[in-house]
Amino acid sequence: MSLLISNIGSLVTNDPAFGTGPLGLLADAAVVVEGDRIAWVGEAAAAPAADESVDAGGRALLPGFVDSHSHLVFAGDRTAEFNARMSGQSYTAGGIRTTVAATRAASDAELNANLTRYLAEMLRQGTTTVEVKSGYGLSTADEARSLRIASGHTAETTYLGAHVVGPEYADDPAGYVELVTGEMLAACAPHARWVDVFCERGAFDGDQARAVLTAGIAAGLLPRVHANQLTQGPGVRLAVELGAASADHCTHLSDADVAALADGDTVATLLPGAEFSTRAPYPDARRLLDAGARVALSTDCNPGSSFTSSMPFCLAVAVREMGMTPDEAVHAATAGGALALRRTDVGRVAPGARADLQLLDAPSHVHLAYRPGVPLTAAVWQGGVRRV
Ligand code: NIG
Ligand code: FE
Repeated sequence: MSLLISNIGSLVTNDPAFGTGPLGLLADAAVVVEGDRIAWVGEAAAAPAADESVDAGGRALLPGFVDSHSHLVFAGDRTAEFNARMSGQSYTAGGIRTTVAATRAASDAELNANLTRYLAEMLRQGTTTVEVKSGYGLSTADEARSLRIASGHTAETTYLGAHVVGPEYADDPAGYVELVTGEMLAACAPHARWVDVFCERGAFDGDQARAVLTAGIAAGLLPRVHANQLTQGPGVRLAVELGAASADHCTHLSDADVAALADGDTVATLLPGAEFSTRAPYPDARRLLDAGARVALSTDCNPGSSFTSSMPFCLAVAVREMGMTPDEAVHAATAGGALALRRTDVGRVAPGARADLQLLDAPSHVHLAYRPGVPLTAAVWQGGVRRV
């Protein structure tokens, strides 16, 4: 079956070969989908016939969002902690243990139901690719089941046994690193594509993070790093040195960190939901972009530091508070996320790419930032299948 989406007022392809600027913007466009792939992109007047057609009504069509950082295998919530923060308390890594206790107590079915619910929330807001981390189990059995459950929904699964030191090892962090790089890694690697570590005061220092990442790499996983979220530290430079696909958060950066990101292959993934929900200063996207770094935007959806599933919300905050233009933010939320996951089949609209598309109830992608908080998702296709 083929599908023609015609009368697209403004098409974001993220492929400069098809239109203007880095977004490859094309006016009065059409797209043909065959099976789960895009078969044709061009001007509506030249579109070939297809089995079915949809009239976009002059509205904007974009690649589905690629949300490259989330923590969706969990139970419970942290309303009390959020309330306390909004009354002046500051965020610390220690809150993670509250969710660990709730997650361990939950059944597989409960965890799967939660994950399913949040992924559906994301889809309704235009997100078609989601990375999901473990990290609320912190025992071999609980980390492995978290990843088993996540891998039932996405290929982008990340082993984050090194989220914080597990409660049983509070007095033996070295023993916990041994577990994370040994038995736990062996149980988790079959269900994961990526390995991640929270390199931060209160979590893991540079040496521990290096041990976790190199063990993960030796087990066949690809590295990504929670880096420089709460303080300046070694996370970003370690990520670049080890060739990580992404350094995530990048809130507190030295000039050397910015230069390393600009010169290396590691994407700087910015997570404004975390600064919003912890009332912290935002990362400086302008500084990174001007230095030549590649930037992605993601939700970091988790019950502690950033309980939003909304890429449009993150995009609007990035434009208003982080110095990004609407074009840069849309690029970061689609092509940037794809780059941060080392994926070439998503985040763009071009022949051969996956047919992951979102139609907005708006004439332009700029409305995502211009109309904050307004649900603009009119339709979503995932692998060529209409889902919304
Ligand atoms: O990315 N920084 C570490 N992990 C999450 C927060 C997890 C939590 O507080 O539960 C983050 O912000
Ligand atoms: Fe995170």
